[in-house]
Amino acid sequence: MGLFVVFEGLDGSGKSTQARRLYEALRSEGVSVALFHEPGGTVLGEEIRRLLKSEAITGITPLSELFLFAAARTQLIKEKLGPAITQNQVVVCDRFTASTVAYQGFGRGMSLEVVTKINDIATDGTIPDLTILLDISPEDAFERHKSRHDLSKITFENDISLGVNQYSIHDNSDERFEKEPLSFHRKVHEGYAQMAQADPQRWFVLDATLTPDALTACIEEKVKKLI
Ligand code: TYD
Repeated sequence: MGLFVVFEGLDGSGKSTQARRLYEALRSEGVSVALFHEPGGTVLGEEIRRLLKSEAITGITPLSELFLFAAARTQLIKEKLGPAITQNQVVVCDRFTASTVAYQGFGRGMSLEVVTKINDIATDGTIPDLTILLDISPEDAFERHKSRHDLSKITFENDISLGVNQYSIHDNSDERFEKEPLSFHRKVHEGYAQMAQADPQRWFVLDATLTPDALTACIEEKVKKLI
């Protein structure tokens, strides 16, 4: 039986590792499975990914950003993800529409109605059967991220309005989203929490600070019950 499983979470939650592990585990058991990541997976999608992550793209409006993610998604669905579902494959996708709700809706503050409408158009009704949220606090995600970067290139700014330290990463990498302040990632985190709470049947929330092996075991147990 086919199944559409999506991994979601903040940057640094470990979801790409878990998506790959699930894919490998199912494949080694002879399950017909496909692995995708968003944005990307097609020639157009990878170009859009490069653009979206590039710091050279300055002044992009939230709506332009939303349309670019939607364009990458609709191309992936048309070319690859949709056919895999039609062929009853198990489809594992690293990020999907919930990322757009969390990042563009909650993070950028775009109308959730507009984001949902664009998501619906882009997906033409393709809905995940299960969304696995690797839940990590923005602070822990930041620490993980920081440990992967040269500490000397990270600056800490004082955000007086929030009364907390606001972290920004000023290194030479081209990760536009990773340079967003902690306050942005807090909103994204809140968005994920609200979506998971609103639809507990389709969302499976795991503590991303568990060991990778413990997470893999929980995920495999959950997914294998559904196949
Ligand atoms: P990526 O390197 O794939 O990050 P990660 O490994 O955390 O998935 O970069 C994708 C970035 O794009 C990530 O910061 C989240 C963001 N994003 C959105 O803002 N909206 C979306 O709809 C999607 C799919 C991703």
